Amino acid sequence: MQKAVLSVENLHKTFINGSNSLAILRNITVAFKQQSSYAIMGISGSGKSTFMHLLACLDTPTAGSVYFNDHNIAHMNSKDKDRFLQNSIGLVFQLPYLIGELSVLENIMIRGLVAGMTPDQCRARSMELLDAVGIPDKAESKPLSLSGGQQQRLALARALFCRPAFLIADEPTGSLDEHTAQDIVELILICQREWGMGVIMSTHDSSVAMRMQTIFQLKDGMMTIKNTESREGT
Ligand SMILES: Nc1ncnc2c1ncn2[C@@H]1O[C@H](COP(=O)(O)OP(=O)(O)OP(=O)(O)O)[C@@H](O)[C@H]1O
Ligand SMILES: [Mg+2]
Repeated sequence: MQKAVLSVENLHKTFINGSNSLAILRNITVAFKQQSSYAIMGISGSGKSTFMHLLACLDTPTAGSVYFNDHNIAHMNSKDKDRFLQNSIGLVFQLPYLIGELSVLENIMIRGLVAGMTPDQCRARSMELLDAVGIPDKAESKPLSLSGGQQQRLALARALFCRPAFLIADEPTGSLDEHTAQDIVELILICQREWGMGVIMSTHDSSVAMRMQTIFQLKDGMMTIKNTESREGT
């Protein structure tokens, strides 16, 4: 299988607030490979979420490019963007953003239903994912009856529905206690190894970052490599 590459070249992001312009990302060039894991570290306000949103095409850079393999995806029209996000990228955020009125199973199934799969196909895939994330017994529960860690497991299952080449996770453990956070990281890494995804995870927690193969540091708008291959080959 050809490994996918998600990369940014000369990426800049500046926010304009009235007469103030705030340069958050300055000329970042970095490539992420499928089947590898990466942490993006940085203090609060350093631009982690801004970077992750640009990588996932949820925002547009002020200058520079975002590539998925050879395709510049930074300025795609919204239809192509939806298709790209649907098939190539799974997203997890600090908060799980679940639909309270739907059951746990339906929260996952909805990903397939909007993509045109049959309800039976969606149900089978969703049960497979609930098994994989360890909460198959919660299929008929409502998401708000789950613990924080279980809700994040559900968000992960939903993100993995379309077998994405990359999982982009913006502080996925930010709302969890230390033990539950390590459980979620372990689960993400198991899924990464089993399904050959690339994982790009932002965090300010060095014990979470250490579990990734390569650690980048975001500071003063620049991204530098902090450590590499701490977990290579495991
Ligand atoms: N839409 C926006 N408009 C103006 N400023 C913004 C916008 N989004 C983010 N910023 C600013 O950009 C900076 C970086 O924000 P960002 O959310 O990327 O940081 P972060 O590293 O993810 O922080 P945290 O760890 O607290 O989540 C902050 O100063 C923030 O106020
Ligand atoms: Mg953030």
